[in-house]
Amino acid sequence: MLPFIELLEGKIKRGDIEINPLHFTRKDVSPVMSDDTLDLHYNKLAKGYAKRYNNKEGDRDFNYAGVFLHNCWFDQFREVRIINKPNGPIANFIEKHYGTYGEFQDKFQEEALKIQGSGWIYLACDGSIKTIVNHEVRDDILLLVDWWEHAWILDYGSDKKEYLKQLWKIIDWNKISTRWGKSL
Ligand SMILES: [Fe+2]
Repeated sequence: MLPFIELLEGKIKRGDIEINPLHFTRKDVSPVMSDDTLDLHYNKLAKGYAKRYNNKEGDRDFNYAGVFLHNCWFDQFREVRIINKPNGPIANFIEKHYGTYGEFQDKFQEEALKIQGSGWIYLACDGSIKTIVNHEVRDDILLLVDWWEHAWILDYGSDKKEYLKQLWKIIDWNKISTRWGKSL
């Protein structure tokens, strides 16, 4: 089980959950993720799930999962790097399952574009690529991508391929490796 699941569940037992602070600056992730997107996605939508959960408004499971997934999502970015490939054990893991990092990216994109409506897509601990409809807590997430419209519409219009292509530049593979090491 991932540490942040335990953390989140510990907070829920105390009756309160929150969206974690960002550990990157807005400048770090610009222009892959713009100020406008961070304002909408982080400040309004993600924090909104926590607020509604804590206020006992709306669907409890949906809001709980929304907080969980967005904490996982915003935790995995760093400054823009034009060449940003996985390294170490996580690179070997991807190569074992997909051949090359490029083939993994192609497969990830292919599966992401099959998503109808709102959802998420992720690389799972068993090496497969899985999707989530709307929101759902999972305990096998390594790399998570938000496929809801609010994640890409402001910066990429309807070009979801470009959204994913740019997103690879800010993935913190050290963070993903940490999840990998603790999850298997
Ligand atoms: Fe989102």
